[in-house]
Amino acid sequence: MPTLEIKKNVFWVGTVDWNLRDFHGYSLARKGTTYNAFIVKDRKTTLFDTVNSGTREEFFSKIRAVADPSEIRYIVVNHVEPDHSGCLVDAVNLIKPEKIFCSPMGKEFMLSHYHRKDWPYEVVKTGDTLSLGGKTVQFIELKMLHWPDNMGCYFKEDKLLLSSDAFGHNWATSERFDDQVDYDELRSHLANYFANIILPYSANVLKAFETIGQLGWDIDMLAPDHGVIFRSHVDKVMQAYRDFASQKARKKAVIVYDTMWQSTRKMALAIAEGLISEGVSVKLFYMKACHHSDVMADVLDAKAVIMGSPTFNRGVLPLMADMLRHMEGLKPQGKIGAAFGSYGWGGGESVAHLTQALQAMKIEVVDSFKVRNFPTDQDLERCAELGRKVARAVIDGLRE
Ligand code: FEO
Repeated sequence: MPTLEIKKNVFWVGTVDWNLRDFHGYSLARKGTTYNAFIVKDRKTTLFDTVNSGTREEFFSKIRAVADPSEIRYIVVNHVEPDHSGCLVDAVNLIKPEKIFCSPMGKEFMLSHYHRKDWPYEVVKTGDTLSLGGKTVQFIELKMLHWPDNMGCYFKEDKLLLSSDAFGHNWATSERFDDQVDYDELRSHLANYFANIILPYSANVLKAFETIGQLGWDIDMLAPDHGVIFRSHVDKVMQAYRDFASQKARKKAVIVYDTMWQSTRKMALAIAEGLISEGVSVKLFYMKACHHSDVMADVLDAKAVIMGSPTFNRGVLPLMADMLRHMEGLKPQGKIGAAFGSYGWGGGESVAHLTQALQAMKIEVVDSFKVRNFPTDQDLERCAELGRKVARAVIDGLRE
């Protein structure tokens, strides 16, 4: 089993999951993931995290290729979610560690996941240090990045930060480092992960940067628990994360819609034309052709989110309801929006439904428009005007 030494005596013992296609409703189509875990060989040789149980055999083979399990003294659990603690029970049984280091919530979560009161827990907090012999670990709690228990480990001698889910990206690759893959593709996976998992906790990301600054850490290698390890683009990826977390928007609008008999689609296209005519970049998402998680990566840096649905049973089509629910949970900030759709009879309730849903997300709705059955040329011109109006609001909003 090939092993990889990422820094002197720091070994990657993670696994690549080429088959994972869904993570809590977040689509990993054509992505997969990796679960990164590490062994640090020192006077107190230590295992940092485990992997999802589906890749157990590969994980334990890698551990054995690096160290005799009886030489491993400690386990550090940076996050109890089962994609990282799925092999913890087996690892504890095999290694019989002197201590298991974790955050305060990490201990609670291990107790409520694995029900082992007899394990040798050692709770650590931000700023606490642990000497492994030649190397010193400093801990940082990374609450809500992505659960309340997440923490990271900094090795000052190696300028290495193990960052748990923070800076993670779901991407199965044979390459292990950022300079071995295409950076733009890497950044798109990073944005996708952030938009679908970390976004509601953007304030915690900014707080973590503050804490890292206060601790004075100089980081030249950043190893998240998913994806490739950053050694060449550390500054770039940190800046990208700051931009994501501050929800910095571009002159861009996202139009998300579903359609029954193409009326709402025609409206979406006319709205797009209006936006484009004012110089705003547009991305259209037809919900029968994409997944709600793919939309979120583009919502992340868009200033405007425009939603369309025909009226269906006095509400919106089911895929639009699904999209709204997903977006509502992720709480994007600082957006403006608009709503549109067609209807056959009754009051065309879908547009009011979309408007209310956007407003409930604190998105300022600058315009809305509904069309009975098929749109006329005048209706489509009104849609283009909606697009132009949103575009002007985007441009004004970015000036503020
Ligand atoms: Fe990668 Fe929150 O687990």
